[in-house]
Amino acid sequence: MIIGGSASQALAAQVARELNDKLCSVETKKFPDGERYLRIKEEIPENEKVYVIQSTGYPQDENMMELFFILDTLNDMNIEDITVISPYLGYSRQERRFKETECISAKATAKLLQSMGIKRLISVNLHEQSICDLYDVPADNLSAMPAIAEHIKNTFEEKPIILAPDKGAQGFAKEIATQLDTDYDYLEKVRISPEVVETKTKNISVENKQVVIIDDIISTGGTIVNAINILKEQGAVSVDVICVHPVLVNDAILKIYAAGARSVQGTNTLKSEVATISLAKTIANHIKTL
Ligand code: R5P
Repeated sequence: MIIGGSASQALAAQVARELNDKLCSVETKKFPDGERYLRIKEEIPENEKVYVIQSTGYPQDENMMELFFILDTLNDMNIEDITVISPYLGYSRQERRFKETECISAKATAKLLQSMGIKRLISVNLHEQSICDLYDVPADNLSAMPAIAEHIKNTFEEKPIILAPDKGAQGFAKEIATQLDTDYDYLEKVRISPEVVETKTKNISVENKQVVIIDDIISTGGTIVNAINILKEQGAVSVDVICVHPVLVNDAILKIYAAGARSVQGTNTLKSEVATISLAKTIANHIKTL
């Protein structure tokens, strides 16, 4: 049984179709004071294995609270085998303490989810792999890169160079490039003199090349705009932008297009007008292995 939370309805439906599983929806509404009402729309047999799919991106608190309500209702129904699939797991950006007395929000989230009796957590390209260690139950961090590589293969006429906007994203570029059998690189800051820092591709030239920039998250778009400016200066003929989690706050999409991107795309870990790459197969195939 797949339960789709309101933040991931289409993805839940696609996963259920891939698995030929039953899909159950939830009814939610807001009371005049802003509090939420929730009802799982079907009776579920106690021995059923249940997968709850709910991303917990913006509005994080509301989506997280809805997830807790679903889980608590399942507990009341005596369902024991519950897996949470939160393709974008909110509150993952702080998985350790940088200053004393800070809340480690990723740990607080893990504690709350586990207190609701979940047997497993599945997410996609978590901000840090170490977030999995905050869970006592199995926590799986899936990669969206094979699905993104497949998408590039099916929609690009020529093999592009895959470029990470910084060293941290280099692994994503490598994963995609290996699958496509193409080149990859990342942008590196080089200090030319005490006053001048230049950012350029580390190993290869992008002159007259089609480039795809890959990152896990695009939030304000600042990182990508900077990368596009550099690639254009260095003579790239086209720059397409792909990310896993299209957070895209405020005018991020416009800023990226205004900088000269040919396209901006993301996966459907979050609802977004640029979410053209579905991870339903990635998630369904993983479920089949459990
Ligand atoms: C950084 O760790 C991430 O990989 C992204 O590069 C970053 O979150 C992007 O943020 P923004 O779009 O605000 O530049």
